[in-house]
Amino acid sequence: MSDIDPRKDYWNDKYLEYWKARVDEAGQGKSQVVAGDSNTEDDSVYQRVFARHGFNPGSLLEVGCAWGRMFPLYLSYGLKVTGCDISRAMVDAARKDWAGQDGVIDIVETPAEHLPFPDSSFDNLACLATLDATYQHQAVTEFLRVTRPGARIYFTGKNDLYFADDQEAYLAEIGARGKNHPNFFTDTRRLIDLLRQQGHRVDAIYCFPRRGDFAAFNHVDNTGERFYEYLLVITRGDRHAVLPEFSDAYSKTFRELSGAHE
Ligand SMILES: C[S@@+](CC[C@H](N)C(=O)[O-])C[C@H]1O[C@@H](n2cnc3c(N)ncnc32)[C@H](O)[C@@H]1O
Repeated sequence: MSDIDPRKDYWNDKYLEYWKARVDEAGQGKSQVVAGDSNTEDDSVYQRVFARHGFNPGSLLEVGCAWGRMFPLYLSYGLKVTGCDISRAMVDAARKDWAGQDGVIDIVETPAEHLPFPDSSFDNLACLATLDATYQHQAVTEFLRVTRPGARIYFTGKNDLYFADDQEAYLAEIGARGKNHPNFFTDTRRLIDLLRQQGHRVDAIYCFPRRGDFAAFNHVDNTGERFYEYLLVITRGDRHAVLPEFSDAYSKTFRELSGAHE
């Protein structure tokens, strides 16, 4: 499937350069790359999460690994790292820096929705700043399939109901759609319910109220009605099943504000 997936065109060299520039300026404050937007989160935010909710020893799969930005952090925990990404440009960049390095097992070009790994392959899985670009129910179903019972799973996404006056979030949603950026918003409460119904443990729910709050690690620990981004930490249960849909290409906020009914 990966060679004919039309979404792959989006994740090209130009996007690689764009995301490198965003990561270079990551941290609190305002972006120079996209005027008016908040900066994206830097590695220290994830460091704090991993320190609070530790990895299992053993292996880790990163889905949407880009050029291996987070590999040094995983390797510092002694994990055996496999990375995968839908983008040939990203995978080429990651292989250039990381192929054959100690602790790096493989770097694979594949979409999150079709992971070419057997069931129960990994002790940990991370998917950071990527799930919102995927067909989420398929991707999370795959996360649960390729991890073993007891595995730690960390992923982030965008909630489908954010504050109506969060102009940055609204403009980002419109901008992404304008650029044809694959973009999906999660019904986070429904996802959490579904995970619990399947017997997975939800260890932590970080909700970041507004765009920019993730970079500032400004979070609330519950799913209030409205928030913009989330980070979930899950322990995989003994069994898993295919998840039904729980995301949408339009946020409820966008529909409220624009009257879109597509
Ligand atoms: C915003 S970047 C985040 C990269 C990295 N995780 C980070 O936090 O810096 C999104 C990444 O997801 C990858 N991606 C997008 N859609 C994907 C999909 N369906 N399956 C796997 N990777 C995907 C892109 O190629 C890109 O590398």
